[in-house]
Amino acid sequence: MADDESTRLKRDAARAALALLPERGTIGLGSGSTAKLFIEALAELVRGGRDLVGVPSSRESETLARSLGIPLLADDGPWDIDVCFDGADEVDPQLDVIKGGGGMLTREKIVIAAARSTVLLVDESKLVRALGTTWRVPVEVVAFGHRATAARLSAFGEPRLRLTREGAPFKTDQNCVIYDVATGPIADAPALERDLEHVPGVVTVGLFTGRADRVIVAASSGVRTLVRGARA
Ligand code: 5RP
Repeated sequence: MADDESTRLKRDAARAALALLPERGTIGLGSGSTAKLFIEALAELVRGGRDLVGVPSSRESETLARSLGIPLLADDGPWDIDVCFDGADEVDPQLDVIKGGGGMLTREKIVIAAARSTVLLVDESKLVRALGTTWRVPVEVVAFGHRATAARLSAFGEPRLRLTREGAPFKTDQNCVIYDVATGPIADAPALERDLEHVPGVVTVGLFTGRADRVIVAASSGVRTLVRGARA
């Protein structure tokens, strides 16, 4: 089946990312539909003999990478990751982002923290002036007492328990639940990330501030790369 426009743009971003791969080394493999396209493109290079190993940030990416023959390092770490490639849900002009639309935020944050550099791949619909404009902030919460934690989260915006299609609470790879918090446009994303992290029961906040070094943006007019700290 032919790609729709959004998939075509995601594929453009994934292909552009290949130019930032080292000749050999360890690559962080993100999660979500854009990361999936990147993993598929990476696998072609590995099949061609490129000496790259991966650290996947979700069971889903692990299964895909393994099935495509990408060698993977063990879950336990520590890893010496040269560069991590991942998707994002919203990107602001500082290259701070919201992630966790797929619910893999905890492992994504661990893998990104272990990487010397991070490249995010998005289509231009993900660019916003302020985080929280089009997305709620995903917050992964320990299942024990999660409704008490949600009551505390409500100080930051209405928390909505994420559900599966069948209506059951969505469970993460860590067997936690997710609340998507309607913050509205966020004035100070680093401060909100820190404040939410301090709520008892919170495992990971889907705000990733100060983490992305580059963002590859695919638009119908072409692909461009935003670099942290560069003038717009
Ligand atoms: C998963 C993520 C994804 O990277 C994010 O949701 C973007 O997904 P997609 O590439 O499918 O738009 O953070 O937890």
